[in-house]
This record gives sequence, C-alpha cells and structure tokens, in this order.
Amino acid sequence: MNLSVWGESVSGGSVGRAPLSHDITTDALVIGGGMAGVLTAYRLKQTGMDCVIAEAQTVGSGITKNTTAKITAQHGLLYAQILERLGSEAAKLYLDAHTQAIGDFRELSQRYPCDFEEKNAYVYSISDRAALEREAAAYHKLGLAARLEETPPLPFPTAGALCMEHQAQFNPLKLLTALAREVTVYERTPVRSIDGRTAVTDGGKITAGHIVLATHYPMINIPGLYFLKLYQHRSYVIALEDAPPLDGMYVDERQDGHSFRTYQNLLLIGGGDHKSGKEGGGFAELRGLAQQYCPLAKERFHWATQDCMTLDGLPYIGRHRAGSPQLYVATGFNKWGMTGSMVAARLLRDLMVGGKSELETLFSPRRSMLSGQLFKNIASSAAGLLSVGGPRCAHMGCKLHLNSAEKTWDCPCHGSRFDEDGRVIDNPAKRGIKR
Ligand code: FES
Repeated sequence: MNLSVWGESVSGGSVGRAPLSHDITTDALVIGGGMAGVLTAYRLKQTGMDCVIAEAQTVGSGITKNTTAKITAQHGLLYAQILERLGSEAAKLYLDAHTQAIGDFRELSQRYPCDFEEKNAYVYSISDRAALEREAAAYHKLGLAARLEETPPLPFPTAGALCMEHQAQFNPLKLLTALAREVTVYERTPVRSIDGRTAVTDGGKITAGHIVLATHYPMINIPGLYFLKLYQHRSYVIALEDAPPLDGMYVDERQDGHSFRTYQNLLLIGGGDHKSGKEGGGFAELRGLAQQYCPLAKERFHWATQDCMTLDGLPYIGRHRAGSPQLYVATGFNKWGMTGSMVAARLLRDLMVGGKSELETLFSPRRSMLSGQLFKNIASSAAGLLSVGGPRCAHMGCKLHLNSAEKTWDCPCHGSRFDEDGRVIDNPAKRGIKR
C-alpha cells in the first residue's frame, strides 16, 4: 500500500473535526490544512486574530503526509544562482528567512514532540565538482561555513558533498496534528468558490477579512496566471529496514538524483523523479538502487509525492494578484515545503498584521515571469491540449497519461491526477473525470 511512515505514525493525520454547518465570520480564513495552512493559522492565532482553517479532506491528507520532512536552508545549489541573478542582499534574505524557520521548528518541537533531530545537510554531486565549489564560494560570501566532504558515506562514488551544519529533520504529521488541535479547523469542508471576502462551502459561507490559499496548487489559478508560472514534479520514497546507518541528510544536486535520510531504524531513499504526467524512474528505480547497494534491507513503506515548482526556484508567497488585496497565496516551495511553509506563515502574518514584510518583494507572486521555464510550461501545455484522444483532464482539457506505477491518470500540463475511477487525487482539477 502507498503509505508514508508519517501517515502510519499518526493514523493519517486527521484531528477529528466536524465539517462547517453554518455561516460564520472571521478575521482570517486559511484554505488548506497542510503544513503551510496550519502554521499560518497558528501564527495568526498567536497575534490574537480570529482564524479558521477550511480543509477539503482531513488535516495533513495532502502533500504534507508524503514529504521527506527535511528542515533545512540548504536547497540544492540555490545560493550561487540567487547571488548571480538577484545579488547578495536577496541571497542573504533567503538564507536568513530559512535559517529562522529552522529555529522556529526547533522552538515548536520543544512544546510539541515531533521527533525533531538536529542533523547536518549535504548536497552532493556525482560528477560536477565545479558546481559544488561555486556553491561553497556562495556560502563564504554569505558568511556561512562551507565544508566540502571529499568522500561522503554514500554507497556510490561522488565528486564530493557540501555540508550545511545544524539543520534538522522531524516527523511532520506529529507536529501538524498537534498544532491543528490548537486552532479552529473544519475538516471535510471543500471551498467551492470565493467571491470577494466570502468563501462558499457546502455547509455554509465563511466571510473573512483575509483569505489565504494554502491548497498546494492554488485553487484560483487562472487569474494570477499560476497555471503558467507553476509546474508539478512527482517523486518517490522507499523506507528500508536493516539498511546501513547514515548520519545526516543527503540530496543530489540534480533534480532527478536521489536523497537519503534516516527516521528511527529506517533509511529513507527518495528519487525516481519526473514531471507529473511524464515517464520517470519511479519506485522501480529506487528498488533497483536498494537492491544494488543494500540487498539485505527490507522495504517497510513506500510513497510518492508531488511538488509545485516555480519559474525561478523561489516560492510564491504573498498577495495572490493585483486588485484583490485580501487574498494571499503560499505555493511553489520547489521541494522544500517544510521551511518554505514556516517562512510563508511568518511572511503572511506580517502582511496581515502590519501590512508589510521585508520578504514581500523577494517572494512576491507578482514578480517577473520572464524565464526559459515559462516557455517550456507554455509548450508543454500546448502539446497536452493538442494531443488527440482521451481521457481528458477536468482542469483545462489536456490529454491524460497513465501512470502505471501508481495506477493513476496524470496530467502533463499542470499536474492534476485522478484515480482509476476518475476521482481527483491532486489539484488543480477540482472535479473528477468520467471513466
Ligand atoms: Fe491543467 Fe490538466 S492540470 S489541464
């Protein structure tokens, strides 16, 4: 069964809250009960604001239950890129925001036990030593210690690994469910539409001073052009028992490489990535790796996840679009959703309470869209729309592809997914398809 180790540890994550059954008014409505939504609601409540979460299914039932749960400011080889593209002030803001997020998780973990462990993070490369050295130089510029390990303890040869010290890992659903119990949550309450400051659900209307879209892929994605400025990536995880121990969290600098971390007695191997709706290595690739390097290990869990990727590698956090100042969004964490969610919670709280944040410009969803990735996204959508035959996606009508590893129908345009019976598994589609 496709079940993450986190899902098993807290029985799926629900906090047993009833759906909304009447009209309500609140200071802030957060749509989505994953890590970004719950942290935002928790932060808002701390300011004295009245805040509710409307979750379409149950708390933690979306992407959060399938993360590998690394809490780190080391996001691949991003700092060299930000320095080159946006300069040192932007790179320092990014680093400080995510370092602060680690501290925030550490503090919360002292009140809400969630298997938080301090670990070093490493980004390794199979063959590109120069890329690691460029990133190490970026660390130096930003005042970070940069240690290049020549022979990291991985089961294959590498060109080295760059260390970022004092990062962390945890069990995300343990923290998420504990925090969700502290805020007002309506589970099984999908928001059908939003009209100004009012969200419509099956059980009643929610009128709010501020509305946050924390639904992974924004539920409003045509105004705001999110369907052009996001694409989704699918990746896979297996959890192995009786594998050799590993200290630290390791990630390949390539988007389709592998990641390694431990949780209790398990070794978690991630990878097999591909753009959603396309072919990729999937579980078979990970099982092949396990067979090659730790043949005596036994697979205890396997699961897959889906990430929203942005045009420039930085998330979209802030006001959703021009002309709707009460509507906010947190999305596009580019596979770094734990620290990204914590940064989002702080930034959105500051915008709502004080009207501004020093991070507003850096993460603005309204920043320039001009990039090579934009044209790739457009080309991919055009190809999906023009492909003949079916079945067709309920979002904008692209031809769906069969994901044989997971027995689902996946959309190559914006990443919606449907089960064998046509029910929606992953948005942006809001309704199922006929099978
Ligand atoms: Fe947009 Fe399928 S997800 S057309």
